[in-house]
Amino acid sequence: MGKGAKMIILIDFGSQTAHLIARRIRELGTDVMIAVPEVELERIKQLKPQGIILSGGPADVFKKGAPTTNPKIFDLGAPILGICYGHQLMGHLLRGKVITGSKKEFGPVELIIEKSSSLLSGVPSGITVWMSHGNEVVKLPEGFVDNARTATKPHTVISNENKKLYGIQFHPEVVHTEYGEQILENFLRICGIAPKRRKFSRQFVDNLIQDVKDSVRNEKVICALSGGVDSSVAALLVHKAISKNLTSYYIDSGLMRDGETESLQKVFSQHYKMDIQIIDAKDKFFRALKGIKDPEEKRKLIGRVFIEVFETAAEKTGAKFLVQGTIYPDVIESAGTKHAQVIKSHHNVGALPEKMNLALIEPLRNFYKDEVRQIGEILGLPKTIINRQPFPGPGLAVRIIGDVTEEKLEILRMADKIIQQEVEKTDWIKKLWQIFAVFTGIKTTGVRGDGRVYGETIAIRAIEAKDAMSASFAKLPYELLEKISLRIVTEVPEVNRVVYDITNKPPATMEWE
Ligand code: XMP
Repeated sequence: MGKGAKMIILIDFGSQTAHLIARRIRELGTDVMIAVPEVELERIKQLKPQGIILSGGPADVFKKGAPTTNPKIFDLGAPILGICYGHQLMGHLLRGKVITGSKKEFGPVELIIEKSSSLLSGVPSGITVWMSHGNEVVKLPEGFVDNARTATKPHTVISNENKKLYGIQFHPEVVHTEYGEQILENFLRICGIAPKRRKFSRQFVDNLIQDVKDSVRNEKVICALSGGVDSSVAALLVHKAISKNLTSYYIDSGLMRDGETESLQKVFSQHYKMDIQIIDAKDKFFRALKGIKDPEEKRKLIGRVFIEVFETAAEKTGAKFLVQGTIYPDVIESAGTKHAQVIKSHHNVGALPEKMNLALIEPLRNFYKDEVRQIGEILGLPKTIINRQPFPGPGLAVRIIGDVTEEKLEILRMADKIIQQEVEKTDWIKKLWQIFAVFTGIKTTGVRGDGRVYGETIAIRAIEAKDAMSASFAKLPYELLEKISLRIVTEVPEVNRVVYDITNKPPATMEWE
């Protein structure tokens, strides 16, 4: 960091959204250094941050062993913003009181501002903010005032303007918090920084390509292409850097959506003239998945088989590098940071690099999905791929509750195809992050003709989100839902009930498993 550069230190207490906080601050033109809670006070002093942010985290501040920080941090004179766990930690260390509340708050909550502050400047009362917590500050530390509450809880925003200390219980970094960006901008202003906005340029993408060129030189590189946005953008970046030295493998696990393999072949082999090897491994996956019901076991097993198949194919190439379309949420959701919990085991080819002595190329590791799309657009990828809905690595297997069979897959595929066809006829397709069918595994009673039937239940999951960290269910019109439902029960005879998932993330994840 150059002399005199303005910088914020973010202490990460294991938050799922720590990197998102950092990203938002960086988007506002300010550098962020992410530190572990164990960072020495002396080190913080040396770095002379303009301000400090204490992130959220899954622990309870009052429990033994919970990550904490040196209380002298509050006397350094740098403005401090505590978010969620960080807010509670500030309350706790400054001798307020934090307890486990009788009611948890998850998802959207109305914020009632009682007394504005420099942090809440320009933020109106009555906005929706995003919560994810069970603990709460019940007594303020000395010198603090209350700025805002929710309908059920006080002390949601607190401040000590003299010492420039601010605590907020909700998450300003997630897009579902209204005026979240304004709050972060206000904090930067409190820190003496004038916020400004950043956007990717052609030059930025050229630099990414050059980075790949410089790291790979004349070596051979392999890639596992899934057809999703991430692996497509990663593969194309590498292709632009080294052209024929890249071989991409597409493994057909039998867990893909209808028509997936064919459309992928068309774009990459025909349009970009990339070297794509298609491997049919359906039988292998089905044999391995037989009778497996546990979601984590399914995820891990699919990852394992994937690696086996990929390894066998890739061994012959003599490659030294492996490209992965890892993006930032994959890193955090697989507990990439020290204090975070594992939410789901993300499917990747993790074990392969060590086994085959491969070095990793992860050009998208620091970016979120919407940023990856921006990069794809600059690279000239067709809209059909850039706007493609995210699809989980373990495929339809995590959209079938219980064991995976070919029959269930076929039912799911038919239902999913109907959903896609109907949504594509509307503008909703542009607004949704994802919409898909889930095979719930629940059988219910129905009536067809004059007879009783006992059939399957399909759930529709439709999500609006800007990144994978938080989401709200889409308020699709009943007419559209009815059309989909009617077509599914008519065209997929095994299904006699369709339900709509109306849960936000958090607490529900987007995929059911
Ligand atoms: P969840 O279910 O964790 O999903 O809220 C967030 C987003 O990530 C996708 N997803 C995955 N993507 N490998 C991936 O590449 C995976 O194992 C995986 N699991 C979930 C999911 O479709 C959603 O868009």
